[in-house]
Amino acid sequence: MIAYNKESKIFHLKNQSISYVFGILKNGQLGHFHFGPKVGDDYDQGLFRNSVARPLTACCFEEDQAFSLDNERLEYPTYGTTDFREPAFQLMRENGSRVTGFTYERHEIIKGKASLEGLPATYANVPDDCETLKITMFDSVIGCYIILSYTIFKDAPVITRSVRFINEGQEDVKILRAMSTSIDLFDSNFDWLQLSGAWARERHIKTRRLCEGIQSVGSVRGASSTNHNPFVVLKRPSCNEFRGEAYGFSLVYSGNFLAQAEVNQDGVSRVMLGIHPQNFTWHLESGSTFTTPEVVMVYTEQGLNHLSQVYHNLYRNNLTRGQWKEKPRPVLINNWEATYFDFNEEKILEIARASKKLGIDLFVLDDGWFGKRNDDTSSLGDWHSNTAKLPNGIGGLAAKIRDMGLGFGLWYEPEMINKDSELYRKHPDWIIGDPDRRLSHGRNQYVLDYSRPEVVDNIFDQMCQVLDGAPITYIKWDMNRNITEAFSRMLSSDKQGELFHRYILGVYDLYERLTSRYPEILFESCAAGGGRFDPGMLFYAPQGWISDDTDSVERLKIQYGTSMVYPISSMGSHVSAIPNHQVFRETSLKMRGDVAYFGTFGYELDVAKMSEEEMNEVTDQIRFFKENQKLIHKGDFYRLVSPFEDGGNTTAWMSVSKDGEEALVGYYQVLGDVNNGFKRLKLQGLLPEKRYRVNDEYTATGDTLMHFGILIKPSNLIMPTSDDRSGDFLSYTYKLKAE
Ligand code: GLA
Repeated sequence: MIAYNKESKIFHLKNQSISYVFGILKNGQLGHFHFGPKVGDDYDQGLFRNSVARPLTACCFEEDQAFSLDNERLEYPTYGTTDFREPAFQLMRENGSRVTGFTYERHEIIKGKASLEGLPATYANVPDDCETLKITMFDSVIGCYIILSYTIFKDAPVITRSVRFINEGQEDVKILRAMSTSIDLFDSNFDWLQLSGAWARERHIKTRRLCEGIQSVGSVRGASSTNHNPFVVLKRPSCNEFRGEAYGFSLVYSGNFLAQAEVNQDGVSRVMLGIHPQNFTWHLESGSTFTTPEVVMVYTEQGLNHLSQVYHNLYRNNLTRGQWKEKPRPVLINNWEATYFDFNEEKILEIARASKKLGIDLFVLDDGWFGKRNDDTSSLGDWHSNTAKLPNGIGGLAAKIRDMGLGFGLWYEPEMINKDSELYRKHPDWIIGDPDRRLSHGRNQYVLDYSRPEVVDNIFDQMCQVLDGAPITYIKWDMNRNITEAFSRMLSSDKQGELFHRYILGVYDLYERLTSRYPEILFESCAAGGGRFDPGMLFYAPQGWISDDTDSVERLKIQYGTSMVYPISSMGSHVSAIPNHQVFRETSLKMRGDVAYFGTFGYELDVAKMSEEEMNEVTDQIRFFKENQKLIHKGDFYRLVSPFEDGGNTTAWMSVSKDGEEALVGYYQVLGDVNNGFKRLKLQGLLPEKRYRVNDEYTATGDTLMHFGILIKPSNLIMPTSDDRSGDFLSYTYKLKAE
């Protein structure tokens, strides 16, 4: 898969569908030549490079009028030696010089892929899955090495990259910027697609045309954030869901990030992703190393839908770990929207008993079970049972729930502390913040300084005490505020720029310790909903709560946008009460279920208060979901109709089993329309010759269903019976089974 041509000094990473080509330029730096469809091997550098002499416009190397980095497409560029675009990295010496000169030293090609110490990363299931190229660059003046790692996967159009800095010189250097990837694409005829939003409307799809200058998204909040996701796509303007060229870039990281494209005077697009340089410096002491997070790059000619499927497969099979990677996920009930902080043991047992009857697998006790917590002003940091509410403690309650035949899950917010807590009274200096300044809080809470190992140890010990004493099978790990007044009281002045990254390393460390000690526990990540929904989290927690907005209409956009890169099996989705608690909308139980099916599936309401009719419907929903869970979680997902286009009134998507034998389609209409024409929904991914039974009502072949489509019953033809109360908030599911 990886070849090096000694004559032309070209590296070629290739599989059945893609090629990634770059080479050693005559000054020893690396030039980027091609990332895209598979190409042949018989070329020299002249074919790829933009090497025309432009001495009037470009600064040249002293000994060569025709050689300017301004004209070249580069692989891991630095600023200051004739290339004026934003650099991939920047180092500063003790004398203040930021000029560096890393040149090719050696390379090695290895089977498989090494893990990244302390960081999440994709992995090979067997060494033959992929091959890795490691290129060592050296700057002899400072004695520093940079190792660029590239992995190509055998059966997927995927290249991953990360970078390691090694200081073997005498002096300390400062890393001012260290992106995980930088790639100069030949032209700029692209649309830039990003996933952006806010609390309760996470990961909406936004696109715009690339143009000269810099366009970027990022986060400096200490978490990847609800506002922007560490994922962007560059797609040809004509590329749609099923046709056309697209490049995906996804950063396996949960902290501050930058994703940026810079189009220069020649129309070359430099795309880079990595840790956000704002507030970042790393003191690379003599003898030390620094590793960047990994970026996952995908290329396709088959449209956005294929791009997403590549990410889904990779993140399901080569990023998610542990027992829950393969096991069917439990259908859960969470008490948050049912009780908020107002519960006691009897109330919890009442909901659990009703849940068991409905077929639910797991009861999750949310916020309020610890310390003296009755509202959001106290007790974060005190992770022991709130015995005023739970006289038998978590151990007693969990045992009772286990005896009912349900799993038991618990909410934690391990990174946070309230000033009204035993932990704060004992360790007021453990919070992040400048002691000489006013502090800001978020929801009355402060952020623990996870760059300090003793803080992580303390929380780990507290959590173990609970987990060792109770049959707990699930943890919801929440994180409800971002970092302000970033200052650590432990780090020396020259290391304060490391705080944000060290914080995330501390979070990863705690996750690693807990997941290895309790391999049977299913972790669900959460950050006030989807405020840290990223590939880094998926390495530890195979599912995440995608939004605090549980309204089924709002969820259409959130789930649709999230599916751009994240697998359906990772998206926490619940049926909640009406009127909905975020938007006060009333949608049918059917629609709430039909939307939540395309996720991990669960409930977040007081099932003990449901009518018998509702309970019967819920029982049917759970049975239906369990019958189709494998198809939904492991099949191929297709987006059919976008809620971001044509007014957004309709959305449709489907999952098709890997063998093409089964499919489940979801169709949703927000508002009813009057006397409109008939609509047909064209399906995808079916076996053209196979005959499918649709909802046990009729049969049709795969090609008919894909090219003619399913006829959708218009809302205005529904009679206002008790079953069909309104044409608004309408949904249909279609189950297809090959005969
Ligand atoms: C966050 C989560 C919610 C819930 C509350 C509890 O907002 O996203 O699901 O757990 O915290 O305080």
